[in-house]
Amino acid sequence: MERKLLVGITGASGAPYAVAFLKLLKRLGIGNQVVISRAAEEVLRHETGLSPEDLLRFTERIFREDELSAPPASGSAPYRGMVIIPCSMGTLSAVARGAARNLLQRAADVMLKERKPLVLVVRETPFNLIHLRNMLAAAEAGATIYPAMPAFYHRPRDLQEMVEFFVQRLAEFLGLEVQGLRRWEGL
Ligand SMILES: Cc1cc2nc3c(=O)[nH]c(=O)nc-3n(C[C@H](O)[C@H](O)[C@H](O)COP(=O)(O)O)c2cc1C
Repeated sequence: MERKLLVGITGASGAPYAVAFLKLLKRLGIGNQVVISRAAEEVLRHETGLSPEDLLRFTERIFREDELSAPPASGSAPYRGMVIIPCSMGTLSAVARGAARNLLQRAADVMLKERKPLVLVVRETPFNLIHLRNMLAAAEAGATIYPAMPAFYHRPRDLQEMVEFFVQRLAEFLGLEVQGLRRWEGL
């Protein structure tokens, strides 16, 4: 049975990361499905001009946050893990406290209880004490905090290169091999 990756998209700034990550998964031939929050639908439109339906070019299925009886709500769904990219402080809070109020949050809760990888690409600045405590709680429960902090050492020429390098590193973190990733070879 092919084990798909579940990709959560929330309403934090950083929709271009989500789009670039889905495009990369498609290029790598990694099956995936998306759960998108209501806030994310708005931010996606604002930051990329895309609608949720447009994402169907890169993913096989998109679930809305109110589809509470969809497969991602159950531990029996055969996902290999979940990446929430970008992850808002609101969703981080729900994950950290086990207070799942929509399908995206429930799916993340399921990943933790099933001991499957859950990667949170959190985005906010600055962090308040509650954000920091929630990141600690989520990490203690088994999630990986993978902040949307772009690097400069590969000298990106533009935003697109910066975003692509970030999602390529994320894919490698998940154990996927990315051909063409520019690796650090020393100064
Ligand atoms: C343009 C825009 C940018 C936002 N950026 C962030 C952000 O970077 N981090 C964050 O935690 N919330 C951000 N928000 C607020 C979230 O969208 C809001 O808290 C929302 O309720 C999150 O819901 P969700 O986690 O279900 O997607 C932003 C909202 C808008 C409209």
